[in-house]
Order: sequence, then C-alpha cells, then structure tokens
Amino acid sequence: MPFHILITDPLSEEGIQPLRNTENMNIVIDTDLTPEELAVKIADFDALLVRSQTQVTSEIIRKASNLKIIGRAGVGVDNIDLDAATEHGIIVVNAPNGNTNSAAEHTMAMIMSLSRKIPQAYNALKNHQWDRKKYVGVELKDKTLGVVGLGRIGSEVASRAKGQRMNIIAYDPFLTEERADKMGIGYGTIEEVLQAADFITVHTPLLKETKHLLNADAFQTMKKGVQIVNCARGGIIDEEALYEAILSKKVAGAALDVFEEEPFLNNKLLELPEVIATPHLGASTIEAQENVAIDVSHDVVTFLTGGSVKNPVNLPSVPREIMNKIEPYFNLAEKLGSFLIDLTGEVAEEVNIFYSGDLSEVEVAPLTRNTVKGLLKRHLGDHVNDVNALYLAERKGISVNENKTSSTKGFTNLLTVEVRTKSDVRKVSGTLLNGMGPRIVKVDNYSVDVTPVGHIVVIHHQDQPGVIGRMGSLLAQHHINIATMQVDRSDIGGNAIMMLTVDKHIEEKELETLKELEEIYDVTAINL
Ligand code: NAD
Ligand code: MLT
Repeated sequence: MPFHILITDPLSEEGIQPLRNTENMNIVIDTDLTPEELAVKIADFDALLVRSQTQVTSEIIRKASNLKIIGRAGVGVDNIDLDAATEHGIIVVNAPNGNTNSAAEHTMAMIMSLSRKIPQAYNALKNHQWDRKKYVGVELKDKTLGVVGLGRIGSEVASRAKGQRMNIIAYDPFLTEERADKMGIGYGTIEEVLQAADFITVHTPLLKETKHLLNADAFQTMKKGVQIVNCARGGIIDEEALYEAILSKKVAGAALDVFEEEPFLNNKLLELPEVIATPHLGASTIEAQENVAIDVSHDVVTFLTGGSVKNPVNLPSVPREIMNKIEPYFNLAEKLGSFLIDLTGEVAEEVNIFYSGDLSEVEVAPLTRNTVKGLLKRHLGDHVNDVNALYLAERKGISVNENKTSSTKGFTNLLTVEVRTKSDVRKVSGTLLNGMGPRIVKVDNYSVDVTPVGHIVVIHHQDQPGVIGRMGSLLAQHHINIATMQVDRSDIGGNAIMMLTVDKHIEEKELETLKELEEIYDVTAINL
C-alpha cells in the first residue's frame, strides 16, 4: 500500500528527494489550496508537509482521518494546532536547525540596512532623488544590541554582531550569567536589556507568553532613538504600539521580516519612512530551503516506515543510542498495559509503573507511553498511539506515575505495572529474557512464566486436589486446547492462580461455565 503525501507550501525539489527516492510514496504537490479545499482533500493523506503559509487548524485536523504525520519545513510551529494534532495522535516534526544560519544572516542584513537606511536611500535614488543628508546613518561599532531570546538564531546573531564590534546584552529564561560570560556577552533581565539597548532584536517563538512582548509599556522602558528588529514571528511586537512609538520618536527605526497578519497587502507600518521590511524572507535561501525540506522529508520517511523521528515537536526527543536500548521493551510495555486492563475489568484511576534493573538506568518516557497506550487501546481503540496516549490518559483523569527502583527480584530488568481502580489494586510484572523475548513473570503476588501473546486465561481458585484436572476437562468439553499452563499459590490449600495459554478465544458463555466450578473464584480471558 502506498503512503500518500500532500505538500501544500512550496518546498525545495532537491529537499524532497528523500521522499521521491523511497518506494511507495505517492507525492501530491498542491500549493494553491484554500482552507476549505484542504479540509476536503486532507482525508486521503498519510502525511502533510508545510512551511509557514498553510494553517493546519483543528478543523483541518478533525477531517484528517488518515493523517499520521505533519512535517513543518522550518522552525516555528505556530501555524499548526499542536493540541489538536496530539489529541488525534498525529506526530508533528519540524526542521529546527536547517535555516538557523539563513535567519541569522537575514537579521544581520536587516540591522545593517536599518542603521544605514540603505532601502530608503535606494528607493530615493530609484525615484531620481540624490539626497546625501537625509540618509545619514549610525555606526554599529560600540552600540549595544539587545537580544531577546538567545536560542539557535539569537546566539548566531549575537556572535555575528560581536564581529561588528557591538556590545551584546541578552535575555532568555534559560540564559545564566555563567553562560553569558562564556559567550562574551552581557546578561540582563528583560527590563535591563530593553533599557540598555540601542538596537533590539527578538528571537523567541510566538507563544502566549511572548505575544506582544514588546508592547507600549516595553517601548516606554527603552532608550529614545532605539531601533527594533523582528525576524522571528509577527505578534511578538505589538504593531500598533510600535507605530505609536515611531510617531512619538521614541523608536528611530524598525526592520520587520514578519507581521501579525501574513500575507498582507496593506500595513500602516510600511507607510512610515522609518520602517524597512521584507516579506518573511528570513529562511528564504537556496541552502536553508534545501536543508529544511531534507530534514522533514527524512523524518516523514522514517516515521512512515516504522522508525523513530529526529525532530518530534509533540513528543520528547530521545537520543538514538538510548532508543536502541529501550526499543526492545516497547512491545512488552504495551502488552503489560493491555493485560492489566483486561485483568482489572474496571476503569483505571491511577497507573504506577516501576522500572528496575537495567531499566532504572535509561530514559523510560517512551516505555511509559507504550504501557499507557496498551491500557487505553482496549477501550479507546486503535487511534491511541505514542503521541496521544498520555494526553488521553490525562483527559480521562488517570494519573500516570513513573518510578525507578534498584530492586530487581533476581531479574536483570523488570517492568511492573500497577493499576489502581475504585475498588482494587492489581499488578503485573514482565521482563525481557536475553534471546527469548518478553515474559510475564508475576501477576499480583504470584510467580509465573508466560509469553505475553495470544489467548491467555487467568484463573483464581482455591488450592485443592483435582481443580486443575476438572478445569482441563471443562475446557476440553468446549474444544479448547491448552497450550501451556502455569500454577502458583499463596500457601497450601490457600489462594492460587492458574495461567493458561489456549488455542482460541474463549467466548463469554464458555467463561461462565468455567466459573461454575466450586473452587473457582474468578476467570478472565485476555487476548494479547
Ligand atoms: P530556539 O527555540 O532555538 O530559540 C528560541 C529561544 O527563545 C529559546 O532559547 C527560548 O528560551 C527563548 N524564549 C522563550 N520565551 C522567551 C521569553 N519570554 N523571553 C526571552 N526568550 C524567550 O528557536 P530559533 O530556531 O532560534 O528560532 C527563533 C524564532 O525565529 C522562532 O520564532 C522561529 O519561528 C523564527 N524563525 C523565523 C524565520 C524567518 O523566516 N523569519 C526563520 C527561522 C526561524
Ligand atoms: C521558520 O519558522 O522556520 C520560518 O518562519 C521560515 C518559514 O516560514 O519557513
């Protein structure tokens, strides 16, 4: 079966070669779709690749019944409804590194154009005006550049601006004084940066917290004559407040690559001679476009062919060497989750997962997601996956806790899942035996050794002579063949467990007849 890939923003042809070079990828490029047309078309596709133009809203995602992955060829994912994608189990990947250099170079080009009024002078000359007095600029040397957001691009801009002999002062919630010292730049609070800077450049994502980060109050704090640069995202600067700050001469100039509304045909900021602008060109270089398209194409191919992606946005990224260690446990974790939810037969309120031995030394979040996936799939169906498992558990009010313990009970690795329901606490432990695959080794407090696959029957009974035989005969009457059997008990004549693997699914009415035996407390059929 081919995978259907839809590309709705212009992407570099060289960049999508990884998709073209993979078998069974049916690629459709349509960059002129209206939102309504996309909402209809999206149902047929497994993957969607976009830049910043396509708005992947919750309405589009709701209609995307086959969509598995959204690839954003670029950094910012503010055009994708991440919550909706997560809820629908759609992984979102981006290309965080491919355009860093281009965006930093564009920012420097904007800072230099702004300081020397190059676009304005060029425009005048094109209009046959030779005016040397009007376009007197300022030097960058010894001026202070305030960098708000010192991530990939902010750091690159800072290091380039040092080359222009500028003093740098930066604010980023993750920046420490030590790191700033190491980078040879100044460190300040946002207020200190705004107060000290002659030029301010923003490089944060657009988030609730950064929306209108530079607003009327922020402009008040700044030096008179400050110049502002935004090559990050429209909306980080309040455009109305910037307009007023330029009119009042508080701000001497602004260079904008991004806008609150894009694309636009009229924006009153562009009527001001102090404002220079480009139409979201920060990442528009041949190199960056190729890099980002290659990165997302690789992740889309990897994901659709069953591998782990490099740049997930709505899943924590786990380094490959750690992934290699934990991948073999994915199946065990999911099976333990499914086993336990069938065993309890009740709604889980709390899930506690205990990782012991080798597993206590690695990143276990992907295993937790697989366990919860197994637990939820029974009732929510196959749309539960690694992406939405924890989100759905939270929405259902199930608390999920990870614990690491050193006690291995003799196993080199042990994964124990405990489910608490309103009336009960049940648990199951599993291990991965070297070269022999996964095993269930404990159910509640009973020791067993069962491969978690196929049809399993868990029977709680009283330890009495003849019970096992009578159970065998009853199953035989229903033409149910026993493949394996494990028995354990708490004490002689006390509570006991029989765990059988059988060759076919046991129907409800057959289960009822098994429960009629006097010594039987409970029988549960589990299909893994
Ligand atoms: P990044 O994630 O590496 O860096 C963002 C930084 O912002 C982080 O260090 C983060 O800690 C910091 N931050 C978050 N909230 C903050 C706050 N309230 N105050 C100060 N700092 C805060 O991202 P990046 O790759 O450097 O990209 C930065 C921005 O540039 C993004 O918005 C991205 O979409 C945009 N971008 C634009 C273009 C373009 O074409 N114009 C190209 C590439 C990236
Ligand atoms: C990004 O966030 O990567 C940029 O805005 C570039 C783009 O729009 O592709």
